[in-house]
Amino acid sequence: MKKITIAIDGFSSTGKSTLAKQIANHLGYVYVDTGAMYRAVTYFAMQHGYITAELFDKENLILALPSIKLEFHFNPSLGFAEMYLNGVNVETEIRTIEVSNFVSKIAEVSQVRAKLVEQQQQMGQGKGIVMDGRDIGTVVFPDAELKIFMTASPETRAQRRFDELQSKGQNVSYEDVLKNVQERDYIDTNRADSPLVKAENAIEIDNSHLTREEQFELVLDLVNHRIN
Ligand code: DC
Repeated sequence: MKKITIAIDGFSSTGKSTLAKQIANHLGYVYVDTGAMYRAVTYFAMQHGYITAELFDKENLILALPSIKLEFHFNPSLGFAEMYLNGVNVETEIRTIEVSNFVSKIAEVSQVRAKLVEQQQQMGQGKGIVMDGRDIGTVVFPDAELKIFMTASPETRAQRRFDELQSKGQNVSYEDVLKNVQERDYIDTNRADSPLVKAENAIEIDNSHLTREEQFELVLDLVNHRIN
């Protein structure tokens, strides 16, 4: 069967990764969460003191970029690939609100983007890939056969992220999560390099009122249409 490239972009906490995982599992495709890669670089920057509440030492982060090795290792018991930073599994560490608070600043740095985009393009060479992020349909795979752009209201997205953090035992307030969602929306859509925009030929899905199953069926139809 013909293999295609599926690019899923959109605002934070729109459920991109849930959808991307469902589609990839169904088709036997590789799923790549590019947000995890930006988060891992952020975690690296925090560990080395390049970013704190007071400072952002961009120059030294850029100099340290060659020493950052990012890999995904599939975990069969979870059914998806986990993020490894220099050989260490950082899947839990990269999902904290602290990392979320810094990640948009790190993702603004062109040298960081260039490094990650190059790796993402290599991963997609053989097609049969579902990749989610902010610039997949516009920058990473402008020729993707299927591009989805996902949206939902900030309140809906904050509630989802809040529920997720709570279920992981992270003690945060809904207000803080909403503030983080709104700040990231602003930075992600206003940055100079590869801002979040809907690709011209992307299909927009507002899932504020869709169940996971409805959304999956909708996208699966689009996929089958492209494959056939
Ligand atoms: O998808 P996420 O919320 O885990 O992504 C974390 C951050 O990384 C997000 O605020 C913006 C950035 N990002 C990006 O700039 N480009 C991507 N392709 C993926 C994520």
